[in-house]
Order: sequence, then structure tokens, then C-alpha cells
Amino acid sequence: MRGPLESTRAMTLAPSPQPALIQTETVFDAAAVARVVEAAFGPGRLAKTAERLREGRDPAVGFVARHDGRIIGSVRLWTVTIGGVPALFLGPIAVERTERNAGIGAELVATCVDWAREAQASGVLLVGDPPYFERFGFQRIDGAVMPGPVDPARLLWLALEAVSAPSGLVRAD
Ligand SMILES: CC(C)(COP(=O)(O)OP(=O)(O)OC[C@H]1O[C@@H](n2cnc3c(N)ncnc32)[C@H](O)[C@@H]1OP(=O)(O)O)[C@@H](O)C(=O)NCCC(=O)NCCS
Repeated sequence: MRGPLESTRAMTLAPSPQPALIQTETVFDAAAVARVVEAAFGPGRLAKTAERLREGRDPAVGFVARHDGRIIGSVRLWTVTIGGVPALFLGPIAVERTERNAGIGAELVATCVDWAREAQASGVLLVGDPPYFERFGFQRIDGAVMPGPVDPARLLWLALEAVSAPSGLVRAD
């Protein structure tokens, strides 16, 4: 039978799970980020309208979730204008399948929103599933026009300024 000392030792030695770290993406992360995004979305992602705002450009910033040195999640923000008003466009956001439902996606979104607020952006636009993004305050934006077909119910906006949502063509700017 184990005495109290042994059980204390066993508890002390038990590995404690390390939380994922959210860090700013660097140039050295590009290949790992590409793998995470490819695994989540597949090659079809390049045909999406959102990609028209990203192709051939560098993001304004990216964040990675790192666990034990390995990148397990990624998100990027891009500068755009909506009817001439500067804003940020979020995406793609992806978390490795085996690491989902642990709050990493939420942390990546929150980090983007903090960064956007600090940058004094008017708001953050994205194309995504409302049931996921509404929890962060994103709401449907009807006046924004993407440079290609998008389900209007999935075009979402988080206002960071107390002004009405911008409207007009969304451009990579
Ligand atoms: C969306 C994604 C980034 C979320 O990452 P995550 O680390 O699992 O997110 P969190 O742990 O913060 O949140 C998990 C919760 O969101 C829910 N959720 C995840 N994706 C969802 C979606 N597309 N629609 C609605 N709810 C969703 C989960 O069911 C879970 O719900 P619960 O809190 O009630 O249990 C991840 O599922 C992913 O990489 N998906 C594939 C790529 C993708 O679809 N990207 C987003 C474009 S819409």
C-alpha cells in the first residue's frame, strides 16, 4: 500500500499539461503555418473569394499557437478597405484537428481583436461560420461587397469604433 509521502511524490512528478503559447508569427513559421492551413482547408481554399484579398500580399500580422515547440494553430490579419475605409480582414484561422475544442481558436481570435484595437482599426471583417464567430461579437455586415461570391450570412464584422459599419467594395489595400 502507498503511504502519504509516496502519493505526494507521485503528484509532484506527474507531468502537467503545458498550455499552448500564442505568439506573433515570424518568417520562420511560414512552412508550419502553411501545413496547418492546408490540413484544415485543403487546396480548395485558394479558389475562395477571401483569397482574392490575400494573394500576393503579406499579412499585417499573424499569430501562431505553439505547443511543445510545434505550431498547432494559426491566424492572420490583412489590411483592407471597405468603401475606402481602412479595416482589417481576419483569416484563415485554423487549429490542428487533434488540438481543437481546447480554446485555442478563441485565444487566436482574441489576440487578433486586441491587436486590431491597439492598431486603432475601425473593425475586423471575416468570412466564417456565424455560430462560431458571434461569440466574439462578430455580426453580419450587409453593406460590404466582397470581390467575388460569398454567402452574405457568413460575411461578419466586429466594430471597434462606435460608428456605423462601413459599406462598399472590399479591396486589398
Ligand atoms: C474553427 C476553429 C479554428 C476553432 O478552433 P478551436 O480551437 O477548436 O476553437 P475553440 O476551442 O475556441 O472553440 C471550440 C467551440 O467552437 C465550436 N466550433 C468550432 N468550429 C465551429 C464552427 N465552424 N461553427 C460553430 N461552432 C464551431 C466547437 O463546437 C466548440 O464548441 P463548445 O465551446 O460549445 O464546445 C477550428 O475548428 C478549425 O480549425 N476548423 C477548421 C478551419 C475552419 O473552419 N476555420 C474557420 C473558418 S469558419
